[in-house]
Amino acid sequence: MPMPGQAAYRGIHLIVTVSMIRFGNKMNVFEAIEKRHSYRGAFTDQLLPRQDLRRIVQAGIQAPSGCNKQTTSFVIVDEPELVQRIRQLHPRNQAMCTAQAYIACVVDRNPPAVYADYQFQVEDCSTATENILLAVTALGYATVWIDGWLRLENHADAIGELLALPQDKILRIILPIGVPAEMHMQRDKIPFDQRAWFNRYNSLGE
Ligand SMILES: Cc1cc2nc3c(=O)[nH]c(=O)nc-3n(C[C@H](O)[C@H](O)[C@H](O)COP(=O)(O)O)c2cc1C
Repeated sequence: MPMPGQAAYRGIHLIVTVSMIRFGNKMNVFEAIEKRHSYRGAFTDQLLPRQDLRRIVQAGIQAPSGCNKQTTSFVIVDEPELVQRIRQLHPRNQAMCTAQAYIACVVDRNPPAVYADYQFQVEDCSTATENILLAVTALGYATVWIDGWLRLENHADAIGELLALPQDKILRIILPIGVPAEMHMQRDKIPFDQRAWFNRYNSLGE
């Protein structure tokens, strides 16, 4: 049996994923969690149907949020001219510069408190984004969570302007989406026993 990381394993993984999508099998949530990965390679020129984009963003809309305030909103970019303009902003990142669509996750620039003195917009945006990542994976597409680059050199505001965001809103995360042209895998994770324990932090035993 080929092991993860080997070329044969990646081949089998690709065939299984493609056949699941083609034959309409639904990927269960644990499979989607295992297959999800940050994809920074090139996308094919296959366009994404709006039906899929709606389904993906609906997954984000259904995520939990602090006090159910549902503070994240989304701009789905699939207009070719707009896609092209965003592509040009990040030429070094293959996923960003070959994406067929983008999902822009938008929050308040100055979020108000919703519980005591606390606001949860970053957390709300993160739960929505993770749901979106899993939905993207389940439908056979790929993406990567782009955050750091948005904060550099006013990229968030440059894209925000293209998307006609009001002044009080800011682009927090952008997800370039498409059909992956290359096979990538999820990065290695620290083993369970080094990150999780039953009952006591860092405890040994059962
Ligand atoms: C809060 C956050 C910010 C991230 N920002 C970026 C980013 O700006 N650019 C990028 O290429 N990946 C970004 N990522 C993706 C991580 O680099 C990636 O999740 C990590 O390396 C683990 O790889 P995996 O997603 O394949 O498991 C970000 C992820 C998170 C959760």
